[in-house]
Amino acid sequence: MNTITSAHIQEAAEYISAITAIKPEIGLILGSGLGVLGDQLEQPVIIPYQDIPHFPVSTVEGHAGELVLGRLSDRAVMLMRGRFHMYEGYGPELTAFPVRVMKALGAGSLLVTNAAGGINLSYASGNLMLISDHLNLTGRNPLVGANDSQLGPRFPDMSEAYSKRLRKLALEIAEESSIPLQEGVYAGLMGPSYETPAEIRMLRVLGADAVGMSTVAEVIAARHAGIEVAGISCISNMASGILDQPLSHSEVMETTERVKSQFLGLVTAFIAKM
Ligand code: HPA
Repeated sequence: MNTITSAHIQEAAEYISAITAIKPEIGLILGSGLGVLGDQLEQPVIIPYQDIPHFPVSTVEGHAGELVLGRLSDRAVMLMRGRFHMYEGYGPELTAFPVRVMKALGAGSLLVTNAAGGINLSYASGNLMLISDHLNLTGRNPLVGANDSQLGPRFPDMSEAYSKRLRKLALEIAEESSIPLQEGVYAGLMGPSYETPAEIRMLRVLGADAVGMSTVAEVIAARHAGIEVAGISCISNMASGILDQPLSHSEVMETTERVKSQFLGLVTAFIAKM
C-alpha cells in the first residue's frame, strides 16, 4: 500500500534544492553497468541516496546509489546512478519515489535505461533497444492506494507510455550517428531469479522483445505525474534458454561495459534534443 505522501516528496526535493541551484529539466535513470554516464556531467553535484530524506538505499552490485545533478549536452539534468528494484524488497511506490522527486524539482521528461535479456531472436547481446512499450508483469503498481490528485489522476492513461515524439527523435539520432538501435517491447518482471526457458517462450508469445527487473514502476509513476518518457535497454544477454549457457550478473556487467561508448554516444546526443 502506498505510504508515500506529498510531504515526503517535498522534504526530499527541498533537501536537494538546498544543496544545489540546478533545476533539472530532464531526469535520467541509469541501469546496471550504465552509471558511467554520470561521469560526463559538467559541474556535477553528487548526493548519496542515504543523505536524502525518505530515499531508500540501493543494494545491487553495479549500482552506485547516488544522485548526480549537473549539465549534460547543455541541459540541466538529474541523474540516478543506481535505482531501486522491487526485488530488493522495496514496494513499487518506493521504487518510483525518485521520479516523484524529479517532478517536484521541475523535470518534464525522463530517460530510463536498463540492462535486459533479449527475447526477440533477431537481437544479439550488446544491442541497444529503444523501448516502444512495456508489459508490467510485476503484479505490482506504484499507484495502488489513495490517489493524491495533486500528483496525478486516479486512472492515468498509458496509451503512450513511451513518447512517440521522443521515440522518433531517438531513432533519427541513432541513424544520424550510425548507432544501431532496435525497437521493441520491454517486459518488466519482479525477479530476482532470472526467467526459466518456458517463461521466456511465454513472454515471446505475449509480445515481449526484452525482459528485465526494473523500469515499469518508474514509468507508471512518471506518466501519472505527466512526465514525458523515453527508455533504452541494453541487451546484456540473450534471455534464458536461447543460448546453451547459464545467465549471470557478471555477463550483464561485461556486456554493458563493452557497449559503453555507443550507449554514451546515443544518450548524450539524445539528451541535447529531448
Ligand atoms: N532477465 C531479466 N533481467 C535481466 C536480464 C534477463 O535475462 N538481463 C539483464 N537483466
